[in-house]
Amino acid sequence: MSRIYLSSPDITPLEEHYVVDAIRSGWVAPLGPQVDAFEQEMAARVGATHAVALNSGTAALHLVLVSWGVGPGDYVPTSTLTFAATANAITYTGATPVFVDSDPVTGNIDPALLDETIGKLRAEGRNVPAIVPVDILGKCADYAAIARIAATREVKVLSDSAESLGARSGDILAGSFGDAAILSFNGNKIMTTSGGGMVMTGDAALADHVRFLSTQAREPALHYEHKEIGYNYRLSNLLAGLGRAQLERLDSMIARRHRHRDMYANIFSDVDGVEIFQREDDEHDNCWLTAIIVDQSVTGWSTAELSEALAKDDIESRPLWKPMHLQPVFNSHPSAITGAAQSLFETGLSLPSGSALVPEQLLRVQRAIDGYIKQPR
Ligand SMILES: Cc1ncc(COP(=O)(O)O)c(C=O)c1O
Repeated sequence: MSRIYLSSPDITPLEEHYVVDAIRSGWVAPLGPQVDAFEQEMAARVGATHAVALNSGTAALHLVLVSWGVGPGDYVPTSTLTFAATANAITYTGATPVFVDSDPVTGNIDPALLDETIGKLRAEGRNVPAIVPVDILGKCADYAAIARIAATREVKVLSDSAESLGARSGDILAGSFGDAAILSFNGNKIMTTSGGGMVMTGDAALADHVRFLSTQAREPALHYEHKEIGYNYRLSNLLAGLGRAQLERLDSMIARRHRHRDMYANIFSDVDGVEIFQREDDEHDNCWLTAIIVDQSVTGWSTAELSEALAKDDIESRPLWKPMHLQPVFNSHPSAITGAAQSLFETGLSLPSGSALVPEQLLRVQRAIDGYIKQPR
């Protein structure tokens, strides 16, 4: 019995074709025609003017903040309910992340609390140059509300859309929101380059500077001249080939994840005390991961118990992100907390959602869940 993962890479002969093509072209380096084409195609896809392909989403977050001059003494509000990469990238610059709690329904940053937090920090004399809202599990944050806050508070917005490629908030597509946005193509994401990321922006100067920094900040001189600290963050041409194949298949991969979401909605439709997380308006989401929220006082079982039962059948499941303000490495940082993210963490469980899941695997998941929830207790 092979293990069923939350979100495995979905690879077909098309990906193989692109990667072999890239190898045969001789461009086996972190530059080349696949990188250029991948950037153009992704920019067109999300409606951004400029794109810079990098070797991770974390690198993308880092370099935008560096390019904006964010550094020691700065305070950068972000979602507490996120993967550590968001907060890590802020700390790389020397700035302090400030963790803002979630809207209890969507899990995304609570806009009113974000606004209040910026106001409080500034009243204390803190410098708040930028905010980093996150689109959690493939649902966009409330872009309209965040844009209003950014305009009145005069802060730059770096949208962490690592998980939300293909989703939208109103008319704005994930990857085109804010002064800059980042995407991730890690192996578990909606589409993958095995590892990779991208900066998307309408700001040509920012894109140029990120590209420059990502290739060791080399000045245009034959002998390698350097006036700034650079990074080795560019995406390989081979992996950009993989990305182009995945992008061609993105819509069908998203459609499959939507169908998995419907399957879970069906499985739990008559189970009192279980809700599908982010179900409202999810036609605009990419449904990267489907999670359930469990009220143990109604169900009589917890997410941890269900997770353990699934693990016995070699099926992976995982709690929602442990909020950053509860992480030992970040719990001394400033935060604005209502308890919403903690409650989602304690009651939420992500279930296998990958587009590579085949019908037999889905049936196995369905039987394992049914078997567990229908046990007499
Ligand atoms: C919300 C979020 N931000 C940032 C990242 C970092 O992306 P990467 O793994 O490509 O560095 C991830 C995923 O890993 C993520 O889920």
